[in-house]
Amino acid sequence: MTTKQLESSLQEARLFAPPADFAAAAHPDAAGLAALHAAAAHDHVGFWADQARSALHWHTPFTQTLDDSAAPNYRWFADGTLNVSVNCLDVHLAEHGNKPAIIAESEAGITRTLSYRQVHAEVCRAANAMRRLGIRSGDRVVIYLPMVPEAVIAMQACARIGAVHSVVFGGFSAVSLRERIEDAGARLLITADGGQRGGNIVELKAAADKALAEGAASIEQVIVLRQTGHDIPMTAGRDQWWHELLAAESPVCEPEWVEAEHPLFLLYTSGSTGKPKGIQHSSAGYLLGAKLSTQWVFDLKPQDVFWCTADVGWITGHSYVAYGPLANAGTLVIYEGGPVYPDAGRFWRIIEQHRVTIFYTSPTALRALMKLGDHIPAQYDLSSLRLLGSVGEPINPEAWMWYHSVIGGGRCPIVDTWWQTETGAILLAPVPGVTTTKPGSCTVPLPGIVADIVDEDGNSVTQADTGGSLVVRKPWPSMLRTIWNDNARYIDTYWSRFQNRFYVAGDGAHRDADGYFWILGRLDDVLKISGHRLGTMEIESALVAHPRVAEAAVVGRPHDIKGEAAVAFVVCRGDRPIGDTRALVEELRKWVAEQLGAIAKPDEIRFADNLPKTRSGKIMRRLLRTIARGEPITQDISTLENPAIVEQLRGDSA
Ligand code: PRX
Repeated sequence: MTTKQLESSLQEARLFAPPADFAAAAHPDAAGLAALHAAAAHDHVGFWADQARSALHWHTPFTQTLDDSAAPNYRWFADGTLNVSVNCLDVHLAEHGNKPAIIAESEAGITRTLSYRQVHAEVCRAANAMRRLGIRSGDRVVIYLPMVPEAVIAMQACARIGAVHSVVFGGFSAVSLRERIEDAGARLLITADGGQRGGNIVELKAAADKALAEGAASIEQVIVLRQTGHDIPMTAGRDQWWHELLAAESPVCEPEWVEAEHPLFLLYTSGSTGKPKGIQHSSAGYLLGAKLSTQWVFDLKPQDVFWCTADVGWITGHSYVAYGPLANAGTLVIYEGGPVYPDAGRFWRIIEQHRVTIFYTSPTALRALMKLGDHIPAQYDLSSLRLLGSVGEPINPEAWMWYHSVIGGGRCPIVDTWWQTETGAILLAPVPGVTTTKPGSCTVPLPGIVADIVDEDGNSVTQADTGGSLVVRKPWPSMLRTIWNDNARYIDTYWSRFQNRFYVAGDGAHRDADGYFWILGRLDDVLKISGHRLGTMEIESALVAHPRVAEAAVVGRPHDIKGEAAVAFVVCRGDRPIGDTRALVEELRKWVAEQLGAIAKPDEIRFADNLPKTRSGKIMRRLLRTIARGEPITQDISTLENPAIVEQLRGDSA
């Protein structure tokens, strides 16, 4: 995939300057952006101090900007105090109290609009309810909800009382939920009776009950949102209904003023080991990144209607649903349900109905919708759109061009935004009124972000179109602070490769002659399936937990729509299954879904007597990738312990 992408980006010569009318009204404009870059280049720390002073509302102003005494555990604005929910809600009430904050559409097509005043009141009630249940600043609260306003309200309510939320994506299994609760030591779980997806109910409460039955002993109480209304068991003394609890509470809640570095949330994400890591974000620095990047990259204006399709279970749903747009008094659309339910026009109908002006989604969604044909979006009035965004994985020029012409009608700039759970906010992206875009490139770093590409020795790659490792040379406020309970892993994963000199993103990239960045994909054993991050080791651990499986190796293979798909090579206990293996394959796929979640199911499972290993016992993953892709084997296999296995692995694919 890397070579193919490199070739396609080398051939990509089309340029798209911002349309004149967009540029004329954009903020920042060219002069504004140049001034921001100049200020940041002149004084990196001073630049961020100025931004933090003007963009955030402080309870106690900070006097110290960057504390690097314990680098790479950086601290920003450490002696200042503030409250994130006050910054997202209270500060807007006087001017925007009646403005829609959230327009929520359910899969059944029911729309609920909540004003800033209503969201504020609900957040206060939820915060009061949590306090009444004994939740205090610093306690962890796990949120396992569908994509409904209450998910955002619950997150904001945690922020209001200084509780640390950890949102678990509703598509994750009971096992994944339990592991995340246990790692975080959460006291409270907020879930729902169910969610909606493609006409079916997602049994969130059943999964929560299973997680709690099998462990997760730190959870003392469960708040249950009534969403689907279907019957579910409630455990007396532990489970309480959201609506009953909140009805008894005041719509006013004194915020907890927390220190800038107080953890706002943990978000678990996959790395190259079997265990997901709890990425820990701060309060002030994170909010600053989410707020400013929303302004810079999305040019959010008071009249905009912003729809980011990401679930709150992912970082995109944190920064560009729950925090960034609200911090800017924006109006956001959230949708709970399948993208093509009840028909293929659902997304476009939502845009038409709610007059969405800024649309932010993933390349996977675009490729899937593109495949359904241009006649579908053509049936809808998409003229409200003025800006389009892409996130989560490289966007191929073909999908970019389709987005531009068919969805954007040729008039909307596209912002291809590069960032990660760890970076908290967008780091590389066009500023839409200023930057000329190239299909497939996330263009250049935002002000205050010093990104670079380095070679194996850590030297900057200055030659155009030469690949290397994407790094960030200077700390930035919205960066992760640590990995929860595992600071050694934080240092090891992101810093030690180049002696703590810079943050190592784990992505390969190259720069073209104009200095534009082109992301080539992950350099580690992390897959991007439909834009979702999954570690191959996680899927392997899930497989080997099955009684029939002795050993497993999982690799990625390019996929037309999902970007990447997982292929598993499995060695069974006893004899290798031969003949019709479909039932076992299905059993294993289902097993992986139960262990991790449906998104982790391998597309293909191949059985072998052995895995290809070097004499020192290392699985030759590169060889497995070649085999999974059906490409000719060019690498040296003479060091293989068992060369005959290659034929078997390949033969099975026939
Ligand atoms: O490989 C990069 C890819 O997604 C990874 C981060 O995944 P996650 O933490 O789940 O966050 C996704 C949403 C921010 C990165 O290391 N990635 C993200 N955005 C892009 C991208 N790859 C190419 N182009 C992008 N715009």
